[in-house]
Amino acid sequence: MPIRIESAQATDYLKVAALDRLAWPIVPDVFIPDGEHIWRVWSDTATLLVARRTDEPPLPESYDIAGALVQFPTKRGELFLHKIIVHPNCRGTGIGTELMKAALAQAEVPVLLTVDPSNAPAVKLYQSLGFTIREHIRGFYRPHEDRYLMSYRPT
Ligand SMILES: CC(C)(COP(=O)(O)OP(=O)(O)OC[C@H]1O[C@@H](n2cnc3c(N)ncnc32)[C@H](O)[C@@H]1OP(=O)(O)O)[C@@H](O)C(=O)NCCC(=O)NCCS
Repeated sequence: MPIRIESAQATDYLKVAALDRLAWPIVPDVFIPDGEHIWRVWSDTATLLVARRTDEPPLPESYDIAGALVQFPTKRGELFLHKIIVHPNCRGTGIGTELMKAALAQAEVPVLLTVDPSNAPAVKLYQSLGFTIREHIRGFYRPHEDRYLMSYRPT
């Protein structure tokens, strides 16, 4: 699937917010006002990368985002990779890897993220790019919801 990784435009935020609702099986496909608001803010203020499909003939604009990633600086001078999502129909074709590589290419300081330990595709993806598990945090959200805190050091 041909894609180009690029910075999101303000006009992409509704498409990315829609993809965000699709990407998580446990979240119902409903309008999330704050979710849309935050993607709009991130399109202006964070590193928000999109994997834009470059099919020929071109897809209708509303279908041209296959994945997205957002990362931003923390107050401790690190980067926090907040979220990466790939459209369910486009997974396993290397798009997540391309988004991560583009984000890490911009990283001159350590990058942190957290991930559900049972999310095997995501954990494998991060490890394949050099992230290591810094801590297994038990009950990160609610008591039964653990997270790995993973980190990456640029070389
Ligand atoms: C995690 C996610 C972003 C991966 O995107 P992707 O485009 O499918 O990833 P890639 O095709 O680049 O695959 C990268 C690596 O991930 C791992 N991977 C991908 N799909 C996998 C699967 N179904 N099972 C196990 N490992 C998998 C593999 O190690 C793969 O590398 P390989 O093909 O060389 O073995 C995607 O599955 C997704 O959007 N999931 C839902 C949202 C999410 O969980 N985001 C991460 C937490 S914020």
